[in-house]
Amino acid sequence: MKMTLRIWRQKNSNAVGKLESYVIDGVTQEMSFLEMLDVLNEDLTAKGIDPVAFDSDCREGICGMCGVVINGVPHGRGETTYQTTTCQLHMREFRDGDTITIEPWKAEPFPVLRDLVVDRSAFDRIIQAGGYISAPTGTAPDAHATPVNKADADIAFDNAVCIGCGACVAACPNGSAMLFTAAKVSHLGLLPQGQPERWTRVLGMVDAHDDEGFGNCTNIGECTAVCPKGIPLESISRLNRDLLTGLRKVK
Ligand code: SF4
Ligand code: FES
Repeated sequence: MKMTLRIWRQKNSNAVGKLESYVIDGVTQEMSFLEMLDVLNEDLTAKGIDPVAFDSDCREGICGMCGVVINGVPHGRGETTYQTTTCQLHMREFRDGDTITIEPWKAEPFPVLRDLVVDRSAFDRIIQAGGYISAPTGTAPDAHATPVNKADADIAFDNAVCIGCGACVAACPNGSAMLFTAAKVSHLGLLPQGQPERWTRVLGMVDAHDDEGFGNCTNIGECTAVCPKGIPLESISRLNRDLLTGLRKVK
């Protein structure tokens, strides 16, 4: 397949970026989106042009490193694929002759470092603001020593799958990171092991979220529509309930 790629090129955080067009040939349906970019970069390098910078690591949809906006949708979307990571999107979702626009996450707390690479360390600081979990040291306790309600465990696990990719922020018109923060709060706040710091954790993480410049949630739902792990909006409701309880108990 032969395609035209319109790619955001930006030398560094202070430079002005712009979309540049490249024609790529020899794309196969079996290639992943990132493999297609690898092919483009080999071609650019051979021509003496700077390769396009983009993030990736596992390329298996589990690490959260990859992420670009493809034709306006964070991580992209195809006829048969949605709620995917960029690395798990395949070129079978595109057609010969297509023009594909590829941009970085665009949100003030995620400054562009170069081309398609953004700085997502704001997420690290939100997690850091959650603090530690009081856990007894020593030998591993018996698995049945702390009973965990099955329904709570299921919801905690459903939220623990957030990979911190940032697509939720890129999709949100408010640039909110509430879905990410809610996933982290739900992950620990529902388990018995996460109870001692439950209320200080939610207050700390929401404060850090706001301090980083992320916007507020207004229930638009774009975040959950693109989340590759299907974190539901209900998690944000749970975050808000925990926040109100935390404000009563701690402040
Ligand atoms: S909530 Fe979903 S979209 Fe947001 S960081 Fe986590 S996995 Fe990515
Ligand atoms: S590279 Fe790890 S999730 Fe895409």
